[in-house]
Amino acid sequence: MRYGYFDDVNREYVITQPDTPLPWINYLGMEQYFGLISNTAGGYSFYQDARLRRITRYRYNNVPQDMGGRYIYLRDNSNGVFWSPTWMPTRHAIEDYHCRHGLGYTVIGSTYQGIRGEVRYFVPSGQNLEVWDLTVENTSAKPRELSAFSCVEFCLWDAQDDSTNFQRNLNIGEVEVVDSVIFHKTEYRERRNHFAYFACSEPLAGFETQREAFLGPYRGWENPQSVETDRSSNSLRVGGSPVGVHHLRFSLAPGEKKRVIFLLGYHENPMDAKFSPPGSQTINKDTVTPIITKYLKPEVIDEAFKDLKKAWVDLLKVLQVDSPDEHVNRMVNIWNAYQCMVTFNLSRSASYFESGVGRGMGFRDSNQDLLGFVQMVPDRARQRILDLAATQLENGGAYHQYQPLTKRGNDAVGSSFNDDPTWLVLSVAAYLKETADWEILKEQVPYENKPGTETVLLEHLERCIQYTLNNLGPHGLPLIGRADWNDCLNLNTFSDQPGESFQTTTNQDGKVAESVVIAALFTMAARELAQIMAHLQRVDDYERIKKLADEMAATTLRQGWDGDWFLRAYDHFGSPVGSSSCAEGKIFIEPQGLCPMAGIGVEEGQAKTALAAVEQHLATEHGIRLLEPTYSRYYLNLGEISTYPPGYKENGSVFCHTNPWVMIAEVILGHGDRAMDYYLRINPSKREVISDLHHCEPYVYAQMITSLELCGDHPVDPRYPTGL
Ligand code: GLC
Ligand code: GLC
Repeated sequence: MRYGYFDDVNREYVITQPDTPLPWINYLGMEQYFGLISNTAGGYSFYQDARLRRITRYRYNNVPQDMGGRYIYLRDNSNGVFWSPTWMPTRHAIEDYHCRHGLGYTVIGSTYQGIRGEVRYFVPSGQNLEVWDLTVENTSAKPRELSAFSCVEFCLWDAQDDSTNFQRNLNIGEVEVVDSVIFHKTEYRERRNHFAYFACSEPLAGFETQREAFLGPYRGWENPQSVETDRSSNSLRVGGSPVGVHHLRFSLAPGEKKRVIFLLGYHENPMDAKFSPPGSQTINKDTVTPIITKYLKPEVIDEAFKDLKKAWVDLLKVLQVDSPDEHVNRMVNIWNAYQCMVTFNLSRSASYFESGVGRGMGFRDSNQDLLGFVQMVPDRARQRILDLAATQLENGGAYHQYQPLTKRGNDAVGSSFNDDPTWLVLSVAAYLKETADWEILKEQVPYENKPGTETVLLEHLERCIQYTLNNLGPHGLPLIGRADWNDCLNLNTFSDQPGESFQTTTNQDGKVAESVVIAALFTMAARELAQIMAHLQRVDDYERIKKLADEMAATTLRQGWDGDWFLRAYDHFGSPVGSSSCAEGKIFIEPQGLCPMAGIGVEEGQAKTALAAVEQHLATEHGIRLLEPTYSRYYLNLGEISTYPPGYKENGSVFCHTNPWVMIAEVILGHGDRAMDYYLRINPSKREVISDLHHCEPYVYAQMITSLELCGDHPVDPRYPTGL
C-alpha cells in the first residue's frame, strides 16, 4: 500500500495521507541554516550544529511521536472552530491533505470547512532563515472571519542542556517584540552574540512569547487556549519556555486569498555592537532589519524559491541517467543524489533517528559520504576533506567524530577505530578522479587542529597508510582497535557493566583482534595512493606502496579465507569471527563485498566463491543481510553486535549501507544482472508499493530493514517499523 506518489517532473514526493506509518521527513537548508520537517510540519531548526545552536525545541520520544514543529492554526471566528492545515497538531478530518516534499522545500496544505490553507517552507539560498509562506483561501460561497496563529517553541541553544538543565533553563528565557517581530535573545546579555527571530509580514492582533500563556495550563499543542479563545496576552515574561506566536485576524470574501509570510531566522551581531543604544540590553537590530524587511516581501520570496529550484536543477544535472528502469532513473537522477547532499550537510548527526545531541560528524562517515556528492559540489568536498584531515592525529589515526561548529575532534569518543584513516585516502582519491585538482595534495593541513603541526595533505595520506602498518596483529592483518566499519563489532571491549559504551570502553589491550575488513580497505586505499604517486611521477613511492597493497591482498587470501567465503575477523583470543566453524555469525557481508572491491581473490577465484555464498546464505527478497546466523545471545568477546535482538541492526538485519559493496563486487566479476537484482531489492522507489510494510519514506534509503523472516525465533510485531 502507498501513502502518496512520486511526481518526477517536479521532483517531489507527494504524500496524500497524513498518518504515514512513521513521520516522513524532509530537510530544509543547504549551507548553515538547517531544518528537519515532517509531512505534518513537525521538526526543528538549527544553525550549523544541531546540538550547540538549536533554534527550536523538539522532543524525541514524544507521544504521539512527532509533536512540535512549525505549526499554523486557522480559526473560524463565526463559530470558534480551529484546525491546522498541516493536520498536526489538531488532527482534524481535513480534506485534500497533501504534502509535497521537494528538494530543499516542503509544501503542506489541506481544506477544512471551505477554507484552504497551504504553507510552503524553505530556506532561501545564502540566508540564515526559513520562510513559511502561508496562503489562506476562502473556497466557500460566503464571507469568512478568520484568525491565524503561527507557533514555534524556542530551544535555549544547547539542545542537550535544554532538555536536561531545568534548574538553569527555566530561568533564562528572554525575548523582545518589535512590531511583528519576536526576538528570542536568551543568553544574549552574556556571552552570545546571536539571537533568533520570528517575523510576520502582517500587523498583529496580538502575540505570545510564553508557552504556558499560549497553551494554558495542562494543555498541549492540539488545543492552545489562545487559539480556542482568540485572545493573546501579549506576554513578555522572562524565564519559562519562550515561544513565538503571531496572532492575526482577517476576513476573506468568497474566492479571496490571503498570503502571509513568516520568517524564522538566526542572526549574529559583531561582539562590540550587540546592543543599541550602546550600554543598553536591547538587541542592536540595524544589521538584521534589512534582511527581515527584504524577505517579508512576496516577490523576493518567489524569486528566492525559483533560485532554490534552479540550484537543484544545476546540482543534479551533473549526473543524469536514462535507463529502461523508472526506479533506477528516479533514484539516481533525483533522490539518491538528494539524500547524499543531505548526508553531506548533516553527516547523520540530525534526523528522526539521531537526536543531533548524541554525536558529531563521523570521520569515516563523512569521508565515505563524500563519494556520493563530490560531483555536485567539488569545492565544498575539497573543504570537507581539509577539515577532516585537520582532525587526523599525528600518528595517522583519527578522531572518530568531530563537531561541525568547532571543527574539533570529539574527545569523548576519541580515536582507535582503526578503519578510519583508510577512508581519508579513499575520499581524496575520489575527489582527485572527479576534479583533477592535484593542488589539493600540496595544501598545508595541521594534525588535531594544532598550529605548527602542518604538513602537506599528501603526507596525511601516507600517515593513514602507515597507521595500519604500525598496527598489525598476529596474522599480519590490521588490528581492529575499537571497531572497524561495523561500530558494533567490538572485539576489545569485553563489557559486563550495564551502561558502559561499547565504542569507548576498552578492557583488552587490543593487540590481538584483527579485521579482514580493514585489510580490504587498506588494500584499496594503498592501491589508490600508489596510483596518486604514479601520477605525481614518484616511481619509487608508487612501487613501494603498490607492494604494500599486494602484500596485504596476499595476507588476506592466506589468513582471511575461510574456504567458502572471507572471514570477518579474529577475536581477542585469536579465534575466527565469521567462519563456518563458528556456532553463530558464520558469514558476514562486509568482507565478501569489500575484498573483491580491493581486487582480493578476483583473479584467484575466491571472490566468485564468496559472492555465491552471499547469494546462498545472506540474500533475501528485502536485501542482503549483514550476517547469518544471527547471534541469539550476548557474547562478551563480540560486543554490541550481539546486544541487538536477532535480525535487528548490526545483528543480521539488511544493513543497506553494505549492500552496494556486494553489487559493486558482482559488477567487477561481470555479474551485472545479479547486481541489478540486488539493487532493486533495496531500491526505495521499488519498495514504495509496500510502504505499509516498509514504514520508511519511499524516497530514502533506510539504514536497515528487518522483517519477521529475518528475526527468526524472535518475531517482530508486524505493525512495528521495518525500515529505520
Ligand atoms: C552507522 C554509523 C557508521 C557505521 C555503521 C555500521 O551507520 O554511522 O559509522 O559504519 O553504523 O555500524
Ligand atoms: C550504535 C548504532 C550503530 C552506530 C554506532 C555509532 O552502536 O547501533 O549503528 O554505528 O552507535 O554511532
